[in-house]
Amino acid sequence: VNGKVVIPVVVNVLYRTAAENISDALIQSQIAVLNKDYTATNTDFSSTPTLFAGVAANVGITFELVKINRKSTTKTSWGTNDAMKKTNQGGIAPTSPSNTLNMWACTIGGGILGYAQFPGGAAATDGVVVDSKYFGVTSNSGTSYPYNLGRTMTHEVGHWMNLRHIWGDATCGSDLVSDTPTHNAANYGVPAYPHLSTCTGTPVEMTMNYMDYTDDRGMYMFTNGQKSRMAALFISGGARAGF
Ligand code: ARG
Ligand code: ZN
Ligand code: CA
Repeated sequence: VNGKVVIPVVVNVLYRTAAENISDALIQSQIAVLNKDYTATNTDFSSTPTLFAGVAANVGITFELVKINRKSTTKTSWGTNDAMKKTNQGGIAPTSPSNTLNMWACTIGGGILGYAQFPGGAAATDGVVVDSKYFGVTSNSGTSYPYNLGRTMTHEVGHWMNLRHIWGDATCGSDLVSDTPTHNAANYGVPAYPHLSTCTGTPVEMTMNYMDYTDDRGMYMFTNGQKSRMAALFISGGARAGF
């Protein structure tokens, strides 16, 4: 990649019901959210507490929708074993995964909002899956609330770009990023600020980071350290250098 990273995106829609056959407009709303969240142009970015203002990042990566694939299915849920990515299981295989971010919109089931493949995995399963219900921006009074603002995709694309959960998936665990505070565990809802960690140094937790588990309206920033981890993928020799 030369200079600016622009990620071509293919969206693969698997539907049984009309609601699962999400509209082009809804898909566009999701791409728009990514473009805002990854350039710090989301309107809630300014809610970042002063304590974190110095580390809050414009990641500087943008996304361009190149194609939408649609396929009907009789499956009521797809699970998390990548069946949606396999033609021989009724799914849709990824398009050019070495230089395209593939997204799948389908019903996952089991209360799972989405899941992603980290860099370095098999090309045939590379990409991110977000449940149809949480894909794009929908009403604050609908059934997708409080995961109705497209932030599940922002979070999953973070994983796809090598970001770990901010609590490191362990009590006071590490996310391998130095400018994010150590969190006790995942946070949910919209925590009141400041929420203090009981980990070493009792830091104020960065509950508004996209890599926590808060409600969509409670997450609105990445850090410079997370940006560096993402940028490293796209340079020569990086796991996503094909982009
Ligand atoms: N549970 C999912 C994951 O670990 C996604 C969580 C997304 N959170 C949200 N507020 N949309 O990848
Ligand atoms: Zn996650
Ligand atoms: Ca950290």
